[in-house]
Amino acid sequence: MLEVIEIAAIAAVGVLLTYILTAASHHRRLKEVGNKLPGPRESFLWGNAADMQAQGGLVLFLDHLHERYGPIARFWEGMGSLSISINDPQLLEQVNAIRLEKRVDGLDFLKGLLGARGIGYTSGAQAKARRQLWHSVLSGQPFQQSMLPAFNTTVEATLKRWSKNGEIQGEGVVIEFNTAARVLWLQLNQRLRYSAFPSLPFSSAWREKRRLLTFIHTEEAESHKDWGTGDLLSLLIAAKGQDGTPAFSPAEVHDEVLTLLFGVYDNSKILSHTLHQLACHPGAQQTAREEVDAAWSGQPPRTIQALISLRYLHACLQETLRLSAGRGVIWRVMEQDVWVGKFLLPRNATLVAPTASVHSNPDYWPEPSKFKPERFLETDPSTGGWRPVKHPGGHSLAFIPFGFGLRNCLGQKYALNTATLILGYILQRFTVELPTKADRQLHFKEENLSLESTDGIHLRLTPRLSPVSQA
Ligand code: HEM
Repeated sequence: MLEVIEIAAIAAVGVLLTYILTAASHHRRLKEVGNKLPGPRESFLWGNAADMQAQGGLVLFLDHLHERYGPIARFWEGMGSLSISINDPQLLEQVNAIRLEKRVDGLDFLKGLLGARGIGYTSGAQAKARRQLWHSVLSGQPFQQSMLPAFNTTVEATLKRWSKNGEIQGEGVVIEFNTAARVLWLQLNQRLRYSAFPSLPFSSAWREKRRLLTFIHTEEAESHKDWGTGDLLSLLIAAKGQDGTPAFSPAEVHDEVLTLLFGVYDNSKILSHTLHQLACHPGAQQTAREEVDAAWSGQPPRTIQALISLRYLHACLQETLRLSAGRGVIWRVMEQDVWVGKFLLPRNATLVAPTASVHSNPDYWPEPSKFKPERFLETDPSTGGWRPVKHPGGHSLAFIPFGFGLRNCLGQKYALNTATLILGYILQRFTVELPTKADRQLHFKEENLSLESTDGIHLRLTPRLSPVSQA
């Protein structure tokens, strides 16, 4: 018996030693290769963590890094953890040619929150199949079309509340849009039947969502039939794989819902920031309003096409995503070595695509700090009207607010269409202005890897004097 224990102990020590030696050799290689790349000196223990903190966060640090070291710059996130940031779309494309798929393991700590069986944590063939399903549900017109009446009702009710049931006249009303947009977005999410979670843990909304998710686990899909077929939860439950069996088990539906809640949570920023840009650029606001009036004739939009046809407004949303409303960083694990020019990007390093820095690269975006929605449009010779440019910024990876490649965002069409709907309604009913000159300048602070305005976004909504006749 003792012998068995001894052999087991020796084997365990052997495994441990092999692990340590392999890790040490990976570490040595990353150090050797990594330090040939341009980048700041690091501390042995903390890497460049102190530099990040001094710049106010990772997103701001990356901006600074590229200004100083050029389009490829490396930094150390801790002892031996090499990250390589690239802000040039062409170079990013060269690296992505190996079809990068894996996100960093560091995000594993979010598994409990995001749902370990959700799309965010699947990979390979499973992720591909799952993404196709997601895509068909989220981007499919049936889903978006079926949500439209409910969304119209919610936006109408919100606009009524903002204008105090029409009592607000010429003087208008000043609204803080960081909060107002978030509240509206949560209300719309409620229409999807999975909203309001994660709100504060143990709040009543949180308990309600837990109850719903437990319900998904215990009830048969059949029992949801009376919910109708349009809402997202029903579509997930009803989705079938190629062999005709349910695509998602109840446990998977649960985790997919958690993943989505995370994706949907901060969409309100695109709305508040675009409204702010339109208030700062009255000419653009007027062009967008004329487009809405012509397309909707004062009626609520009845089809998704009525949203897609608002090309200029769509371009305003994209330009805002480029300038400020996007998320800050996209990660991939380098699963093999790649040479980019004279630099070797080693396997096991983390590739970082800093969206803010890519979006302000002057080689792709002339006058990068200016708000110019026209960048996203070109003339359609067959109609003389506008159509979206195929590659904004002149390259397929110059505009990446929704990520890129194999793991790009699945909700982008849904997010843009919903924002177009809300903005269309607002422009139809109100003019949007800055209450004071000081409200023009937003002050940002980095929070959760995106830039958040610290003092709120205050805007004045004034009912239009002669809106196109309303329904
Ligand atoms: C303006 C709003 C949004 C922005 C800026 C945004 C941005 C992103 C980004 C940057 C990623 C990571 C992409 C990558 O790694 O290449 C992502 C992933 C994802 N997003 Fe969004 N997103 C938005 C809205 C939404 C919405 C509304 C949904 C769902 C209804 C959604 C669902 C997802 C999902 C499921 C993934 C993970 C895809 C995968 O792992 O394969 N997103 N999003």
